[in-house]
Amino acid sequence: MDIQQFFSALWDDYVAMTPQAQQIQDAFVADGETIVNDHVAFRTFDRGPITLSALEPHLLALGYTRFAPYDFAEKKLRAFGYLPPSPDMPRVFLSELKCHELSERAQSIIDGLVSQISPDAATQPSVLWSGRLWDAPTFEQYQRLMEESEYAAWLSIIGLRANHFTISVNALTRHDTLDKVLTRVEALGLGINPAGGRIKGSPEVLLEQASTLADRQTFTFAGGEQHEIATCYYEFARRYPDADGKLYQGFVAASADKIFESTGALHPVIADWLDLTLEGHASARGMGRIPGGRYEIVAPGVLEICPDTQGPAARPCVLSAGIHGNETAPIELLGELIAGLESGHLIAGAPLLLILGNLPAIRTGERFHATNLNRLFRRRLPARPMTVQPMMSRHAPAS
Ligand code: NI
Repeated sequence: MDIQQFFSALWDDYVAMTPQAQQIQDAFVADGETIVNDHVAFRTFDRGPITLSALEPHLLALGYTRFAPYDFAEKKLRAFGYLPPSPDMPRVFLSELKCHELSERAQSIIDGLVSQISPDAATQPSVLWSGRLWDAPTFEQYQRLMEESEYAAWLSIIGLRANHFTISVNALTRHDTLDKVLTRVEALGLGINPAGGRIKGSPEVLLEQASTLADRQTFTFAGGEQHEIATCYYEFARRYPDADGKLYQGFVAASADKIFESTGALHPVIADWLDLTLEGHASARGMGRIPGGRYEIVAPGVLEICPDTQGPAARPCVLSAGIHGNETAPIELLGELIAGLESGHLIAGAPLLLILGNLPAIRTGERFHATNLNRLFRRRLPARPMTVQPMMSRHAPAS
């Protein structure tokens, strides 16, 4: 198998799990861009026939060379970066979970999975897109793993395949900054992983990276239970030349640490929406999946939830909080509601619109600034038509 065939097969498997990647690539190609992959990343266990050292020979056979080791103590991972045989081919980032650092319980779940792998499973390069080489775990086992390692839980149900491809921003002409790339991706209605900031890294560390939030698919767990799980995501990377004028080739551990969170079980966009909105840092737009439905940030402070199926007795509703910036209890209640929807403890039965009323006043903890919003709901507003300054014409003294 040559390197072109390798990446072609890997890509086909990846886009089957990650339709957003094809959507993004098609959009950039339609904009006249040429897509070059900066790197591709894999996840594996350090147990059974699929350890990093068992997979690495396939990369070396394609002409790859080990570049640098990386260690992620908190996530219990070790990794290597690999340089391609030619600069037009992607670098590879191969990581493995240090299973012995997990609890006995988690280790026994993982051992139960890897013990099912055929001993000769890793003899062909196609092992790198072979998916799950074991029967699906139970959802309870998946949740056990999730408590300790999102990486382990992801791998237990998704299996061995490209975790992400990465568009090289250096190779783009029109969308030549991370910010332009992310704006284009968001215009497609896709969410960006906000962990560690939308853009991780900086020109100073010679690498800027960002990633989408992973696509989601429904998986059937052992016993027949079905759940929607994060699959794979797309990354974007811009490299800068070092002091010698050579383009930086490595990875930045602190940034990679946050990129790993793109497959988090919770969509951090919605989980953090309230806090980020109040701090003034939330994306003005964004959408994604939550259990049983989808959400969309339609404007600053305005979040819409749409269920996949309408409940028979459920009525669409609008919930607003923070009409007065110093009344914080309802804002906290909204936060609890969002957390419930996010975790799947609550499922919306009808469309729901959540509105944070007076954002500037909430941020300063004051009742209102220029206009008491509650006075806009009076029955007897001035009869004259709305002018170009409706706020002024409706202004009323505070109570
Ligand atoms: Ni990456």
